Amino acid sequence: MTAIEERMKALAPEYIEVRRALHRRPETAFEEVETTARIREELARCGIEILPNGDDTGLVGILRGAAPGPVIALRADMDALPIQEESGLPFASEIPGRCHACGHDIHMATLLAAARLLSEYRAHLRGTVKFFFQPAEEKLGGARSLIAHGFLDDVDAVFGAHTWPDTPGGSIGYRRGAMMAGSDTFRITIHAPGGHAAHPHKTPDPVAAAAYMITQLQTIVSRETAPLDSAVVTVGKMTAGTAANIIPSEVVLEGSLRYLLPETRAKIHESIRRIAAGTALSLRVEASVEILPGCGPVIGEDRLVDMIETAVTRLLGPEKADVLPTASMGSEDFAFYLEKKPGAFFRLGTGSDDPASRLPLHNSRIHFSEDAISAGAVAFCGIAFLATGSDLSVLE
Ligand code: NI
Repeated sequence: MTAIEERMKALAPEYIEVRRALHRRPETAFEEVETTARIREELARCGIEILPNGDDTGLVGILRGAAPGPVIALRADMDALPIQEESGLPFASEIPGRCHACGHDIHMATLLAAARLLSEYRAHLRGTVKFFFQPAEEKLGGARSLIAHGFLDDVDAVFGAHTWPDTPGGSIGYRRGAMMAGSDTFRITIHAPGGHAAHPHKTPDPVAAAAYMITQLQTIVSRETAPLDSAVVTVGKMTAGTAANIIPSEVVLEGSLRYLLPETRAKIHESIRRIAAGTALSLRVEASVEILPGCGPVIGEDRLVDMIETAVTRLLGPEKADVLPTASMGSEDFAFYLEKKPGAFFRLGTGSDDPASRLPLHNSRIHFSEDAISAGAVAFCGIAFLATGSDLSVLE
């Protein structure tokens, strides 16, 4: 066991308790008031300087090393989901309709443990480490809030992580190239005059048009995207009609699109607009398309991804290194940081023999392996040492 693993092993029970306390009190996007207070308390205990976020929730901790060097940021998101928890755990949510079902409580405990470890190794640390405790990841607004308040301006590299139920607890997943997809939301509104269900020849039918559009949208991925490229077009919501005997005057289709390459994104936008317009023309309805931009893909810089690999193999052992064969088509607002600064992202394995740990993220019954906290904290410390030009062998 390496020196830093040894130290983390001693601290683990404390940070598992912190995680459980955060888990009991989940708060959703931009409402993380109690959560922010708890994090402030924990960072203050390690002597870390704290800057409040300009918005009401979230904060940034700052640890200055003993020698000059680069400024890096390590990021954890803080928000829970509007879900009623059904995990059956003794530390389940005490707040009705709120649950840390995406593991952001694990992220916070992991980063707090990393802050503790780095503060203890401060004498060997060069440069500055900023701890980004970011609100509102699920609404994709929290990263923008920290960026807007200037916390990223002096940062040379930014790192983040997310829990991952498909891989064993304590493993760290990473890859060169795309880790997560870019995502946009689209809305197609189909207009027609409206009329009686008994007289279809007297009014164009927007419901039938919507059905054709949904079917045609499937061909964007299957017939227009290169087979070895990746994309998703999902219609997740359809709003139409009020009664069985009325042909409605409006149908709204809402969906999500995912991509890894900017040119694929542009093509999907063009295809959605063309299919909506062409189908509308052929079926005598009107269609308007809105595309709401989301976040871009999460693509780490190779040299920074390699630092994740070095930190994991040297401090946790090569058996904990999980080189991911493919990206995930999920998205992450960490991408907003990467639009401005170089960075890299990794996955914290949270799977175990407990079948509930293999449930998908956002499931009301999901359990997370708490081994992720120690592994993630050690990985963050190693990454911080490497990215600031500090001597990693001190942690070995
Ligand atoms: Ni999440």
